[in-house]
Amino acid sequence: MTDWGARAADLLDDLACLSEPGAGATRLPFTPEHRAAVELLSDRMRQAGLTVTLDDAGTLVGRLEGPKGRGTLLMGSHQDSVRQGGAYDGIMGVVLPLIALEKLRAEGRATPCSVEVLAFADEEGVRFPTALVGSRALAGTVDPAVLEMTDGDGVTLRAAMTAFGLEPDRIGVLKRDPADVIGYIETHIEQGPVLERAGEALGVVSAICGIERHSIGIVGETGHAGTMPMEGRKDALVAASAIVTEVNRLALASDGLRGTVGSLAIGPNVVNAVPRVARMTAEFRSADDAERRAAGVALHAYAEEVCAGMELSCEVTYQQAAQPCAAELSERLVAAVKRAGGQGLVLPSGATHDASALADLCPVAMLFVRCRDGMSHRPEELATPEDMGRAVEVLADLVMSPG
Ligand code: GLV
Ligand code: MN
Ligand code: MN
Repeated sequence: MTDWGARAADLLDDLACLSEPGAGATRLPFTPEHRAAVELLSDRMRQAGLTVTLDDAGTLVGRLEGPKGRGTLLMGSHQDSVRQGGAYDGIMGVVLPLIALEKLRAEGRATPCSVEVLAFADEEGVRFPTALVGSRALAGTVDPAVLEMTDGDGVTLRAAMTAFGLEPDRIGVLKRDPADVIGYIETHIEQGPVLERAGEALGVVSAICGIERHSIGIVGETGHAGTMPMEGRKDALVAASAIVTEVNRLALASDGLRGTVGSLAIGPNVVNAVPRVARMTAEFRSADDAERRAAGVALHAYAEEVCAGMELSCEVTYQQAAQPCAAELSERLVAAVKRAGGQGLVLPSGATHDASALADLCPVAMLFVRCRDGMSHRPEELATPEDMGRAVEVLADLVMSPG
């Protein structure tokens, strides 16, 4: 008898080997590593009887044709990783529905609708200061201005996509007809400790958090570290440090709020000169959009205060509203988890997902798989073959009764 969870683990290992060299998985969008993952997944999709295409947003689409007029169930997640991330975030949500279709095929069971397995190019937003282009393309919500955004090497998203063989100006035609789409199911490693603490392999997501990202620049005054009087200094790093502490304080003060300064650069960045410039990011997340927005406004006011006498720029570079999952589809997923022996635990997601963009097209639901020690975005990330096997069972069950 085939061990479907072990089969998923083997494919995920093979995909992780296609990473950039170094610790963990690094697979950024529109790179040779992305191409290699597309090729391996395409082969496996074809072997499972799917028709494979790469759309002009870089989404790999494996389609299994079902009876005419019965609609299409979309299932998938993103192929990309963060730098030195894990082998499960995103890509596991491509592999598990594919394995579920392999299982149904091996059992000789035809699906009651068409099914597509999707591997989106870019959910992490690590290479370009935007994300979710593939899922937004299907929903028809891509802002074409994002194509002019640049990566750290000055390459525009448009140029990276074109070099990958895509025609980014055709993104507009990728919009799907909502009348044909039954829904979108995304399977994802939980990336937190809730399921492990509850002793549950699987859970169903209630809502995906909202996010806002700020870019903050401070210009003060440099000078000799030994001779410049302490009084009256315009030290950009001292101001930046106060802002870091304020982000943390604001987030600690609200139950559901997360606040992070993930990037900070200073100049001249030498041991014996007062820092003149600081450039940093600040990110807030919450399932409550009002709470998140209030934190952003409070942070800008605090930055004005703490940077008095220096030059300050504060810009919101990215915003995404919180997204509840669709009640009916999520209930069906809960029922399938229960049929597979789970409690059907429901929990919110503090990470964002392609499902948040697809909610503009169709009902969305998310299946979470237990994560070892709650660790994610790092090489130690792990979902066990046993837990993935249970998820495959649930996905196959859902495909056979999509609603
Ligand atoms: C991606 O994992 C994110 O939530 O930023
Ligand atoms: Mn992810
Ligand atoms: Mn991630």
